[in-house]
Amino acid sequence: MSTDVKGKAGLEDVVATSSSICYLDGDRGVLAYRGYDIHDLARFASFEEVCHLLWHGRLPNRAELGDLQSQLAAGRALPEPIIRLMKMLPPSDGMDALRTLTSALGHYDPDASDNSAPASYRKSVRLTAQLASIVATWGRMHEGGNPIAPDPVMGHAANFLYMLTGERPHPTAVKAMDIALTLHADHELNASTFAARVAAATLTDVHSAVVAGIGTLKGPLHGGANAEVMKMLLEVGLDATPDRIDAFIRGKLARKDKISGFGHRVYRTEDPRATHLRRMSKELGEKAGNTKWFEMSERIEAIVRGEKKLYPNVDFYSASTYYTMGIALDLYTPIFAVSRISGWTAHVLEQYANNRLIRPRADYTGPSYPQTWMPVEQR
Ligand SMILES: CC(C)(COP(=O)(O)OP(=O)(O)OC[C@H]1O[C@@H](n2cnc3c(N)ncnc32)[C@H](O)[C@@H]1OP(=O)(O)O)[C@@H](O)C(=O)NCCC(=O)NCCS
Repeated sequence: MSTDVKGKAGLEDVVATSSSICYLDGDRGVLAYRGYDIHDLARFASFEEVCHLLWHGRLPNRAELGDLQSQLAAGRALPEPIIRLMKMLPPSDGMDALRTLTSALGHYDPDASDNSAPASYRKSVRLTAQLASIVATWGRMHEGGNPIAPDPVMGHAANFLYMLTGERPHPTAVKAMDIALTLHADHELNASTFAARVAAATLTDVHSAVVAGIGTLKGPLHGGANAEVMKMLLEVGLDATPDRIDAFIRGKLARKDKISGFGHRVYRTEDPRATHLRRMSKELGEKAGNTKWFEMSERIEAIVRGEKKLYPNVDFYSASTYYTMGIALDLYTPIFAVSRISGWTAHVLEQYANNRLIRPRADYTGPSYPQTWMPVEQR
């Protein structure tokens, strides 16, 4: 096998497929869905418009947007056995619950046995609606509340917050959640999307491919980083002096510990999603009358940038944003999935439409061939 293959640890910079969904330029800090810059989408688009853009390749007109909103609203209610299963699960990590419950949803999907293109699209829309309901209901039950029925009149972000809290959410919170969903919706061949595409390339069903994505997103090097960031901020403590913050972070760097929420495989400059989350963290903090988490985050950013030349990624400021919104830490990574389901399914549908089994090779480094067989008594 050629040496250039050996040099690609973690498949860094390897182009593994063609895709028309997400454009990423890590040197210039550009992210675009179907050609639309993430800054414009964060400012102007709703998550439902982003879903249409990812799935269909173009923005919806008013009638198409209305249709999609209705389909999402119609898909929100969870089958009763899913609620029962949720109640039966032991207290567990939100991502473990989401993985199990998403897999279970496959049994109750009306298109379960149909893997045609129209059925796979319907499953994608339904899963996008249902994942939000699962995470909101799980979060609510975790706080001792009873499941709330979805409100078909509300948009996706608003309904999610409503099902989570049982209260009509404030427009500022809805806007923040909508932007967060838009920012996390897709990111080219990130690890979980690649996992979902590898699964889809075997022509397995949409639910199975999405479960592969959820299991991959859970890891602390990927989606799990947002919860790790908040654990770090809490460990430093709200009342920490600037000196204590500095000592904490410098100590971590000296021990060569990774600082969650920093660094990226592709970006060599600011992650454009972090720009919006930094602003949201500040604005929500000001609105809540507590900017201390934001200020601590800014200070940590200054140290890590200064010492390591590393920029914050999407996870760093999402931590203080969600915390200020009063969202439980256990839901941070599941909320990432509530958004990324749109990107996973767009990639799964794209893979189905032009499929070839994904089956790479490994650079063999084991014992030389051939080894001589020894009966067990002689080993
Ligand atoms: C995202 C991430 C996995 C990318 O990893 P990668 O492309 O494989 O980069 P590496 O882990 O090889 O890091 C390259 C160098 O930067 C350092 N580095 C990267 N991220 C770092 C971080 N968050 N904190 C401290 N140092 C970091 C590494 O220690 C390494 O330094 P070295 O060359 O002196 O050994 C990595 O930056 C990371 O672990 N970040 C923290 C987790 C995180 O926030 N994940 C969410 C990503 S959106």
